[in-house]
Amino acid sequence: MRVLITGGCGFIGSNFIRYYNNKHPYHKIYNIDKLTYAGNLENLRGLEKRKNYHFIKGDISDALTMKKIFRQFRPDAVINFAAESHVDRSIESPALFLKTNFIGVSILLNLSLECRIKKFLQISTDEIYGSILHGSFRESSPLTPSNPYSASKAAADGLVMAYYKTYTLPALITRSSNNYGPYQFPEKLIPLTIINALHNRAIPVYGDGKHIRDWLYVEDNCEAIDTVFQRGAIGEIYNIAGENELTNIYVVKKILQHLDKNESLVTFVKDRPGHDRRYALSISKIRRHCGWHPKTPFSTGIKKTVAWYLKNKRWLKNCQTGAYRSFYKKYYSKRGLKNI
Ligand code: NAD
Ligand code: TYD
Repeated sequence: MRVLITGGCGFIGSNFIRYYNNKHPYHKIYNIDKLTYAGNLENLRGLEKRKNYHFIKGDISDALTMKKIFRQFRPDAVINFAAESHVDRSIESPALFLKTNFIGVSILLNLSLECRIKKFLQISTDEIYGSILHGSFRESSPLTPSNPYSASKAAADGLVMAYYKTYTLPALITRSSNNYGPYQFPEKLIPLTIINALHNRAIPVYGDGKHIRDWLYVEDNCEAIDTVFQRGAIGEIYNIAGENELTNIYVVKKILQHLDKNESLVTFVKDRPGHDRRYALSISKIRRHCGWHPKTPFSTGIKKTVAWYLKNKRWLKNCQTGAYRSFYKKYYSKRGLKNI
């Protein structure tokens, strides 16, 4: 099996490639990543030596490059993690979100049809359903995104399902809740809180801090994505969640406790525009159809996450200063690996 994985140098993509490579060591993995500020080759350190793993620098919204990549590597399946993923950045500059998250997906879908891909898995998000104060969203719930990021992801989901219905492209979608764990770029709530606390800097909490997210440990998501990839029905959508609904202020205070830091670091700041109050998913479909359920309680996952960041302060520093970029540029050019 030849699997083309996009966005594999990001947070979830890199965790997934490690997971997938351990689980299916004889499958070939082609990791296509543009290496934006969020993409980090250091996340996959060690893997570049394996014969079944190939990294190719490429932008999914560049049709010509992607065509060359599909023709050269002839993948059997595509798993699309590549995206601009930060809500605050999407509010500042929405255009890039549409380019990568929608146009990029349309290019992948066209090439997947042309190359008769056997499976196309789109990695989507709970944010496309919008906010829900009571109960939870099922896969059939209407999509009411609130910000440019979630709107671009919702549009992509629509296109994926349209390609399945119109052209019978063998596609499926996972929609997960907020992930946390190792290798998350420190702009998202949990790693940002850890890094600011380590430096005794203020921790910005938007609005009253009572917004609710359902936290999913990234390894659990990797297991769920692989389960859907292997056993999910074509044309179906699967919600994935950790069943750990918590307010932001609870999450921040828990991290401060683990780091033995004072709660006075918490600083309430102006709310994010269009800030969704609560996300909640029903995961009965993936439980019933695929036999998957989340394994990691938040108390365990956050302990592991804080420990990982404490052990990997160099990673944290390098990904903020961009130091790894020059290292890997040399590393890859020495080994003759090309950017297509
Ligand atoms: P991330 O921002 O950490 O990583 C995104 C990766 O995509 C980076 O390696 C980046 O270099 C790459 N990329 C960006 N634009 C690209 C382009 N045009 N071409 C090729 N590569 C490009 O994101 P993440 O948190 O790992 O999220 C991965 C996927 O999961 C995204 O599709 C996101 O919408 C979805 N998702 C994330 C969460 C979460 O909590 N992080 C929750 C649900 C769904
Ligand atoms: P984030 O990690 O950006 O993920 P998302 O917006 O995709 O859910 O934010 C998680 C929650 O934390 C969200 O309700 C916004 C809030 N938040 C803060 O309060 N302060 C921050 O500095 C950040 C980045 C997020």
